[in-house]
Amino acid sequence: MIRSGQGQHKRQHENMSIKKVLQLGDPLLSRISESVEDPGSGIIKILVDDIYDTMRDYQGVGLAAPQIGVLKRVVVFGFTGNSRYPDAEPVPETVLINPVIDILTTETVEDWEGCLSIPGMRGLVPRATKIRYGGFNHEGKTINRTVEGFHARVVLHECDHLDGILYIQRLKNLADFGFIDALQESKRYSPAPCDS
Ligand code: NI
Repeated sequence: MIRSGQGQHKRQHENMSIKKVLQLGDPLLSRISESVEDPGSGIIKILVDDIYDTMRDYQGVGLAAPQIGVLKRVVVFGFTGNSRYPDAEPVPETVLINPVIDILTTETVEDWEGCLSIPGMRGLVPRATKIRYGGFNHEGKTINRTVEGFHARVVLHECDHLDGILYIQRLKNLADFGFIDALQESKRYSPAPCDS
């Protein structure tokens, strides 16, 4: 999930590495990414920096490595205070490598999602309300969390990218998908912090 900020990109520092986010139609977005052998390696740190720089530049709340064309099982997500979405539940900034997800409930809830790879659009996607996820960060430390709600939704959306799945493949009804402007005009959608 995430917001589309294309057109506003500015390189803030010479050493920042903002990559192009691949868009729907690029075959790399449909591929299955491979596991990372050494999560603490230097090459993964560079990849994580690239993902972070790109995610912030595009004003996303998450980004997966395949979205910048790297087919490795690495995702980054999270945001703290966001003045545009003051009611959004914060999600800690997290690097998650080789994620494993357990769905802890059969309960699902529908909410609007967006994706930096599908700019300007939103869709209503059902997701499990409670999950446990584990993996490693880029310092090689293990991560193990049980989360609910928006946090769970962001993780599920990002990790889907590692299996070549985009949120549009999870829509229950194509009528619940469209351009943000049109959805807002029909009063069916109000902005949410959801581009990843
Ligand atoms: Ni996405």
